[in-house]
Amino acid sequence: MEINGKTKLMGIIGNPIEHTMSPVIHNTIAELTGENMAYLAFPVKEDVEAAIKGAYVLGVQGMNVTVPYKSDVIEHLVSIDEQAEIIGAVNTLVRVEGGYKGYNTDLPGLYRAMGSEGIEVKGAEVIILGAGGAARAAAFLCAFYQAKKVYILNRTLEKAVNVAEEVKQKTGFADIIPMALSDYSKIPGNGYLVLQATKVGLYPNVDETPMEDKAFFEKAAVVYDLIYTPEETKFMRLARENGAEAYNGLKMLLYQGIAGYEMWNQTKVSEDVVEKVYEKLQQKVKK
Ligand code: ATR
Repeated sequence: MEINGKTKLMGIIGNPIEHTMSPVIHNTIAELTGENMAYLAFPVKEDVEAAIKGAYVLGVQGMNVTVPYKSDVIEHLVSIDEQAEIIGAVNTLVRVEGGYKGYNTDLPGLYRAMGSEGIEVKGAEVIILGAGGAARAAAFLCAFYQAKKVYILNRTLEKAVNVAEEVKQKTGFADIIPMALSDYSKIPGNGYLVLQATKVGLYPNVDETPMEDKAFFEKAAVVYDLIYTPEETKFMRLARENGAEAYNGLKMLLYQGIAGYEMWNQTKVSEDVVEKVYEKLQQKVKK
């Protein structure tokens, strides 16, 4: 692609940011579709407000926001999407008159990723592991898309209690039950959709898992691990050994990006292009 005076600039802000996969997603789509656009990673070490204002003045059309700014950025936006406001986290900014509007595409990204594997959230009985930012998004997803029942398990019980309370309060979804991770045996029956939303097992700590017990995995029908490096986490391996289906978080990453790209460029990315971008991401992750 030739960069010229009409090239639209997009980017991602965060810290650290060197290992982000987002430039691969967006620049690959642009290349495949002939969009005159470039996407760069901006390491923002301080003053996120100045970064947002500077981006606007420089004509940046769209941005992603990652750790540690997903919540901090909100007060510097001119408006925010309703769902993103409820979740309290923004990962995508769309340029509007006078500044940026904030969206959260992590949640619909996870939803679309699960849908592409045939995983239905509506009516599902779900176990979420973790109570950090990723687990919160998973919990809101279950509320928004009408899961039947959700158990949210965390090493530190108090954090799971807080997430459950917040989801109940903000969405009216009542069937969310916080538990300590070690109390999983109190969960009745089996056939659960398990969303692994802790960072345990993330590269380079590939020999770690938030759960080892066979009795836990016997409750799982389908496991979705939000981690995508390594390609198969220990948690996924244990789930598969116990007969569950298991998926990693790479498609969530893919679809949160696709959603942003579609808003910025007011287009629909074709399935063919989605597939090619996914293949490229898989190659990068393997390295
Ligand atoms: P993020 O915002 O990316 O989801 P986070 O806020 O750092 O990440 O949350 C990390 C999650 O991993 C938490 O749920 C954490 O549990 P605690 O709240 O008890 O700290 C969980 N976690 C981290 N290390 C863990 C471990 N060794 N075993 C079980 N859970 C762990």
